[in-house]
Amino acid sequence: MTSRLDGPLKVTGRAQYGLDHNFPGMAYGYVVVSTIAHGEIAAMNVAAAVSAPGVLGVYSPFDPLELRTPSSPMLGDTWVPLQDKEVTYYGQPIGFVVAETFEQARDAAALIEVTYHERPARTSLEDGLDDAIEAAPITGHEPPFIEVLADGVESIEDALAASPVVVQATYRTAGQNHAAMEPHSAVAVWESGVLTVYSGNQGAFLQAAELAGALDLDPSSVRAINPFVGGAFGGKGRTSVPAFLAAATARALGRPVKAALTREQVFTATAGRAATVQKISLGAEPDGSLIALRHDSWCSTDVDRSFVEPTSHGTSREWYATQNLAISQKIVPLNVPPTTFMRAPGEAPGSFALESAMDELAVALNMDPIELRLRNNSTAPPGRDLQWSSKHLDECFRIGATRFGWANRSPQGHTDGDWLVGHGVATAVFPALRFPATVEVTLRADETAVVATSGADPGTGLLTVLSLVGAESLDISPDAITPRLGDSALPPGGMSGGSTATASASTAIMIAAATVIDDLLAAASAPGAPFEGEDVTYADGQVLGGGRSMRFGEVLRALGRESLSAQGSSAPGEEMTKHSFASWGAQFCEVRVHKWTRETRVSRLLGVFDAGRIINDKTARSQISGGMIWGVSAALHEALEIEPNGRPANADFAGYLVPVNADIPDIDVHFVEYPDTLHNAIGARGLGEIGTVGLAAAVANAVYNATGIRVRHIPIVIEDLLD
Ligand code: MOS
Repeated sequence: MTSRLDGPLKVTGRAQYGLDHNFPGMAYGYVVVSTIAHGEIAAMNVAAAVSAPGVLGVYSPFDPLELRTPSSPMLGDTWVPLQDKEVTYYGQPIGFVVAETFEQARDAAALIEVTYHERPARTSLEDGLDDAIEAAPITGHEPPFIEVLADGVESIEDALAASPVVVQATYRTAGQNHAAMEPHSAVAVWESGVLTVYSGNQGAFLQAAELAGALDLDPSSVRAINPFVGGAFGGKGRTSVPAFLAAATARALGRPVKAALTREQVFTATAGRAATVQKISLGAEPDGSLIALRHDSWCSTDVDRSFVEPTSHGTSREWYATQNLAISQKIVPLNVPPTTFMRAPGEAPGSFALESAMDELAVALNMDPIELRLRNNSTAPPGRDLQWSSKHLDECFRIGATRFGWANRSPQGHTDGDWLVGHGVATAVFPALRFPATVEVTLRADETAVVATSGADPGTGLLTVLSLVGAESLDISPDAITPRLGDSALPPGGMSGGSTATASASTAIMIAAATVIDDLLAAASAPGAPFEGEDVTYADGQVLGGGRSMRFGEVLRALGRESLSAQGSSAPGEEMTKHSFASWGAQFCEVRVHKWTRETRVSRLLGVFDAGRIINDKTARSQISGGMIWGVSAALHEALEIEPNGRPANADFAGYLVPVNADIPDIDVHFVEYPDTLHNAIGARGLGEIGTVGLAAAVANAVYNATGIRVRHIPIVIEDLLD
């Protein structure tokens, strides 16, 4: 139970985020965005802006900063602004003004007159369904259409037709924006030919590589620093528009440049979660065993089609045992803000559909919804030979049912005065992944050690995990460890994305620590060293040999050394050919719907999770409860509303609803702990994203239990619950 090491700095305002960095001579940039959703920029009259007080530079597609499209194996191509006159969404960055002060840059930007050759905008996912196009291969490079059929079965439709009980329904989920507390922003400084960019992101080395690519620089001359990150959730995986523009103008002007998106711009000039439409058919035996599962998905994308929300591939592909399975994914390119990874991409919206459908099947079968899920527990993804490495989903449901008091639930809900009370459950699954990561462990003569990697802690608790795993691996106290993150000059760590960072970095720490201990023992027993010629071992921070012991710092001091370092690297390997890997969870929700006002309040939440070994209970719990809160948000609050002309109607915190404290009850998070050493040496699987998976369905299922009204879209609003 270790508190977040960076907590005190954050809550006292002393943590320096990217934008908190200031330099002598610094100029300020302001991003100009489009006011149409589709067309070509005909002209930009910048005369008034150029001659406005304090203005140092005005950049646009007519007077662009030269930027190339960077490409990386992990992220693919990343869009860079101002390189052409095409506008494909409302709020697209089309200009950049740099001035002596922020106010001067903002005021000058307001003087720019833009004229467009406007074209009609396509903004409706519903209208685009009929001419949707097949998606490119989905995560894991699976084709957009997958079918697994039992012997002798001709088609999924045959399997459904032969099923005694069938439910079929269409579900819809809203587009969302990450809306991280820290807006996308950067401070860029050039010094002696080296570019340093201070900007919150999910992996400093990735950002350094993208900036080097965009500016055509040698990677060694770019340094990206992200000491603190005010929320990321997938939306800071790629380098942001302010970072590209600040870096390029800092070079052009020879001065440090600071730039940030406004809160309103964050809703368009970044990228968010796609809206989805999902059609599900479930066919089952009267005892609940699934015979057939069909899940067809459509999602919105921006016109470059670069991101697909893998709803069915992230859920129905793997979650339940079924003899027959068919999933498909199509995309509808629209003139809407770009789409990208957002916490549990695929799994979050996909689980709303699948877990709502499972609840509908339980109702049709007159069966307890937990019992239905237990009957369809899988030992491997359908049609794949690789069994799950470690799976205790059934235990999650059983423990959860006891903790929650599920036995008291009535299939018709119950009332408490003017409140209709309902209970719902859902399954949560998220794949357990790792990325390649390198960590350096340094033993120091002052009896401390440094654990360093360029990965990021966007609020996940990774910094604290580095310290704990470092201490365990070196057999010393966590107080003696200095963890370091968030600097591309450090060894290339994993990315804080895909719920991978703890498993990736921890495995590398164990390797680095074992190596530095070996090196220490070799040095301690070398000729002239304190343990010359002796058999030495290491325990409890000490070198032991010949009946004597010395602390590692003493050994280093005796050797006249300040420190001793070693790096360790790890990457997914052979284990991927032997098992399938995922984390598991059971989500429980109680809602109270007011009989007369139809207001929905979430009154209890419980999540029971199997994520392998838990390294730090406190930060793990915090991650999970944060994800569960996001699930409530998805279920009852959050939607980016796009008007027919492409303008977001609620691109600010007044109109874009997220839950506040009063919307969230106490959250009970419980872990069943089975270290998964088939996945990695530390035995931990990812838990960054699974907390939000399934939760929205648990809320909707509880609303159904309370009211008898099945709402097949999120967010659920009062109008949906009027009789
Ligand atoms: Mo997150 S969607 O795994 O970056």
